[in-house]
Amino acid sequence: MKGVVLAGGTGSRLHPLTQITNKHLLPIFDRPMISYGIEALVKAGVTEIMLVTGGNHAGEFLRLLGNGEEFGIARLFYAYQAKPGGIAEALALAERFAVGDRTVVLLADNIFERSLQRCVDAFGKQAAGARVVLSRATNREHLQHLGVAQLNGSRRIERIVEKPKDPPSEFAVTGAYFYDETVWDVLPSLKPSGRGELEITDVNNWYVERGLMEYDVLDGFWGDAGESIEAYYAVNDFVRGHGVNRET
Ligand code: G1P
Repeated sequence: MKGVVLAGGTGSRLHPLTQITNKHLLPIFDRPMISYGIEALVKAGVTEIMLVTGGNHAGEFLRLLGNGEEFGIARLFYAYQAKPGGIAEALALAERFAVGDRTVVLLADNIFERSLQRCVDAFGKQAAGARVVLSRATNREHLQHLGVAQLNGSRRIERIVEKPKDPPSEFAVTGAYFYDETVWDVLPSLKPSGRGELEITDVNNWYVERGLMEYDVLDGFWGDAGESIEAYYAVNDFVRGHGVNRET
């Protein structure tokens, strides 16, 4: 399985911190944010990775990660997104790297307490399609800033609603996505959303509509450190107090 780590975007929700650096280079406790996503994939056995970034600080990733050896990466590739156009557009840049294999995509501002190993293993056993990782969040206002899964009670996702005014469940869709090779045919068919971006939720709903979407619910802490300055500090506090990417 190939890993694609998405570390682009303007990070506007963390301005002015992100005026002087890329969001994914900001510190989370004792390391730059990007290190945690890389660690999550490597610990789950995904060691062929492409990092997609953009903007004015792309060179710093090279300085930090180099050829990836120190981080346990077997082969590290880089892609550059010329202008931010959404998560799905960034993913399209990884096609030539990942085609011919299955792909796990990780948004590099997503920090998980628990290992993604279980999800990687489950996707390995899945015949085809896609898989998302859900996390339970009880705060409705928080859910309104995320993608939220509508479930039908029998282990099926009925649809995923992006930034719902009225969240259809307490299950947020985290930024860890698993795709089979069909994804490379789905991406070119997407149309920009209201915010002018190619949305990963539209990719996921393509699979949902065809009955090809499975999911895991991951226990433990999950945070999107790019969601707001409060979220950024909540993630920092958690990582400092408890550590993340834990096997158990
Ligand atoms: C993105 C996805 C959203 C998901 C979130 C997780 O949101 O669109 O569905 O819940 O990442 O971090 P964004 O951070 O682009 O607003």
